[in-house]
Amino acid sequence: MDLGYRAYGMKRVVITKTLPAPVLKAIQAQYEATPLHLESLGREGFLAELGTPDGIVVSPGDPVDAELIAALPGSVKVIASFSVGLDHVDQDAARTRGIAVTNTPDVLTDATADIAMLLILGALRGAASAFRMISNGEWTGWQPAQVFGRDLTGKRLGIYGAGRIGLATATRAAAFGMRVHYWAGRRNSAEFDALGFKAVPDPDAFLARTDVLSLHCPSTPATRGLVNRALIEKLPQRAVLINTGRGDLVVDEDVITALETGRLGAVGLDVFNGEPAIDPRYRTLPNAFILPHIGSATEETRLAMGQLVLDGLNRYLGPS
Ligand code: DGY
Repeated sequence: MDLGYRAYGMKRVVITKTLPAPVLKAIQAQYEATPLHLESLGREGFLAELGTPDGIVVSPGDPVDAELIAALPGSVKVIASFSVGLDHVDQDAARTRGIAVTNTPDVLTDATADIAMLLILGALRGAASAFRMISNGEWTGWQPAQVFGRDLTGKRLGIYGAGRIGLATATRAAAFGMRVHYWAGRRNSAEFDALGFKAVPDPDAFLARTDVLSLHCPSTPATRGLVNRALIEKLPQRAVLINTGRGDLVVDEDVITALETGRLGAVGLDVFNGEPAIDPRYRTLPNAFILPHIGSATEETRLAMGQLVLDGLNRYLGPS
């Protein structure tokens, strides 16, 4: 409830998810900060409690869509997202209302690339079934024919989307002996080229030479549903899919069918359609190595993201 109260001289921001404590403290030092959980309240409940804040701090999973933005009070000058991805925010609608939108680029590049590498390792080495075997007490000891994974060395890694996280994943994978190529549409990436990674502009040729496909593109109308049955058919047999981008880049039904038939060898997924309510089959498939969207979840990275959120608020609201 907003009673129109303002701590003396302080602007007010509403925060939709629980932030790391030091980040919340830093924001509270400069703003009157009110927690208001958009996901659990829903649009109507959120708007009913919102009052007239100057800014809103949102996060992935918050549906900051055109309807919500249209209904925001005129006091809101900035929506600062605790994320690099902005697919949960309708930026056109914000622009129309004259509301600035900020995000947290760069600082999560290494942490997310580390998780992409963990997924590549986990998927290729059969970590899901190995972990299940030992944690369920089913391990009977070392066996010559048990939990066969596959080597990373020599595998061809296709990076889809030549941004910062893709590049950081490529350099890590190269150190593991993987052969890296990339697809960035018709353009080349000077950064990838400088490190000797080869551009393959023809999408079919790119897929045909990709043993491990790692997605590093944003979720947009053009990329949603990108990994479907037709795309999977263009990959080599038993190819591996890695997704640290967004869940809606893949068509779950097609990916799961391909995992069940062995057309795809394995997947490593950190993001899911409709998360946190993931397709339950991912939990039991032996060749699905899954993580709960932890790409940026390190202490250092989340604090750095928090600093960028605060910078974004200050840029548009001015320090209180
Ligand atoms: C982002 O920032 O977009 C990630 O998905 C969460 O760290």
